[in-house]
Amino acid sequence: MIVSEAVTVRVPAKVNVYLGVGPREESGYHGLATVFQSLSVYDEVTVEAARTLSIAGVGKWASYIPTNSTNLAWKAARKVAQAYGIDPDVRITINKSIPVAAGLAGGSADGAATLVACNAFWGGKLSHDELEVIAAELGSDVPFMLHGGCALGVNRGDVLSPVMTRGIFHWVLATFNEGLGTPEIYGRLDEMRDAEFDQAPQVPTELLAALAQGNAEALGATVFNDLQAPAIAARPVLGQVLEFGLEQGALGGLVSGSGPTVAFLAESESAAIDLVIGLMGSGLVDGALHAHGPVHGARVVPA
Ligand code: C5P
Repeated sequence: MIVSEAVTVRVPAKVNVYLGVGPREESGYHGLATVFQSLSVYDEVTVEAARTLSIAGVGKWASYIPTNSTNLAWKAARKVAQAYGIDPDVRITINKSIPVAAGLAGGSADGAATLVACNAFWGGKLSHDELEVIAAELGSDVPFMLHGGCALGVNRGDVLSPVMTRGIFHWVLATFNEGLGTPEIYGRLDEMRDAEFDQAPQVPTELLAALAQGNAEALGATVFNDLQAPAIAARPVLGQVLEFGLEQGALGGLVSGSGPTVAFLAESESAAIDLVIGLMGSGLVDGALHAHGPVHGARVVPA
């Protein structure tokens, strides 16, 4: 049953405030202990009736959007249709503001948004828990994009529990037009590590306390990402960008996810804007933007 002509869902980007990576498992995946925070950079995904499934991209990053079955939005529409026992005959329009292949989970965000949009479009029969199961099948980051906020992720990052935070954190994202491949960065990490490496990752309590207190300075001192070293090895300019941002007064900085985006924590909104201007003039990055977090996850935009 189609309940409206079109449904639009707004979905944020994420940063991994902490990303601890365990050894490579037999499945090829790595056990994680990560803390996600959703950020105020949004994609909008619109679903409307069509003769057949298709994807179109609009917005700044439109030309980078795959318009075929490799897009998680495509897979998401098919999975929701399968659960309803219908054909996935919708046109999906992705208005893209989240940089692509950037370590900001933009592809996962679009997958999550499409799950929510298709479910609303076809009558809202699937519960949040059912959507979460489909989300985990789509990719490790997709379940968090449904939730948003701030969450601890274990297993592949798909088993979530909420993390308490206070107030708003101001971030600056240094972006690059050319992405990095997630499997390549995990592979580099394995190569950089001792073959016997077997440490289970764990989120430090200091970091959770900093989030709970809304203490940006303490958070800046504890942010960490195991994928940062392999991302810098793949793209050495990221090391220079980190140095530049910290010299300019950022409270902390790290590569986001598998990169290449570098995320800096700023003391205030005005400090964030100053850093954006500094980075834009540095010649080291393709773009810089201010975002705050945490914000809500994938949600239907009221018509
Ligand atoms: O789950 P997703 O499709 O986002 O993962 C993309 C790739 O990232 C995987 O194929 C794998 O190489 C790597 N990965 C991993 N361990 C994780 C998550 C992702 O090795 N926990």
